[in-house]
Amino acid sequence: MTIEDICNLVMAFAKAAGRAKAAGFDGVQIHSAHGYLLSQFLSPAFNQRRDEYGGSIDNRSKIQLNMIQAMRRTARPDYPILVKLNCRDFIENGLNLDDSLNVAHKLADAGVDAIELSGGVINTGRLEPSRTGINSIEKEAYFRNEARAFKREIHIPLILVGGIRSYELAEELVENGEADYISMSRPFIMEPGLINRWASGDHSKALCKSDNACLESGRKGNGVRCLVKPEKHGGTHAQLNIKMGAVKC
Ligand SMILES: Cc1cc2nc3c(=O)[nH]c(=O)nc-3n(C[C@H](O)[C@H](O)[C@H](O)COP(=O)(O)O)c2cc1C
Repeated sequence: MTIEDICNLVMAFAKAAGRAKAAGFDGVQIHSAHGYLLSQFLSPAFNQRRDEYGGSIDNRSKIQLNMIQAMRRTARPDYPILVKLNCRDFIENGLNLDDSLNVAHKLADAGVDAIELSGGVINTGRLEPSRTGINSIEKEAYFRNEARAFKREIHIPLILVGGIRSYELAEELVENGEADYISMSRPFIMEPGLINRWASGDHSKALCKSDNACLESGRKGNGVRCLVKPEKHGGTHAQLNIKMGAVKC
């Protein structure tokens, strides 16, 4: 990207934040994780630039800080701006925890309202953002250790994502101060009513199998949907739906 491309992109993000606010959205989140463009700027594995946007972490994070300043101007100072950030890329020469913490300090100083902590780079076959085989509580919250490091140093709200499936664990993470909020993705593809279910007192684990079939389906152009057949839920779904009053059967 030329410097002009970068300036245009910064302005495009700023305009998008203004449009999101005008359209009534509660806030915006900048995606700086998972190997997408801004994550590539942060990552020494991708960012080979020799100009003011490459090299040191100050330079690699510059585009995002410019964006936040520009977004604040179009969306006003009190409009929530969140950033989804990799704690580590989990690839050779990728973003490491120290540099990620350094960026988080800068984001907090720039007035970012919260950080959603994730990690990994898509399509690397390594420790990717949506890990499979989350079949025990020990495998859940796979960025937990990094979240602890963030909570020790960074004093804006931390939203933790990545393999959280158990109500008890979600509660423990918040009660222990390891995260301020819990974020989930795949569980809602299988059970859109999961939060209502937990709120109603049924605290059994999310039914999501973490097999990433939903992701594959989306990538193949067949739409993001859960491919676990309803009959394989063994009736649990029907029971849950009755509890939530969503379906009569
Ligand atoms: C089908 C699908 C689409 C996703 N799309 C996005 C996305 O647009 N932006 C994003 O930040 N993460 C996206 N993710 C990653 C999730 O937000 C989340 O970080 C990851 O799946 C780990 O959380 P989970 O174990 O609760 O699914 C997607 C994941 C899936 C399965």
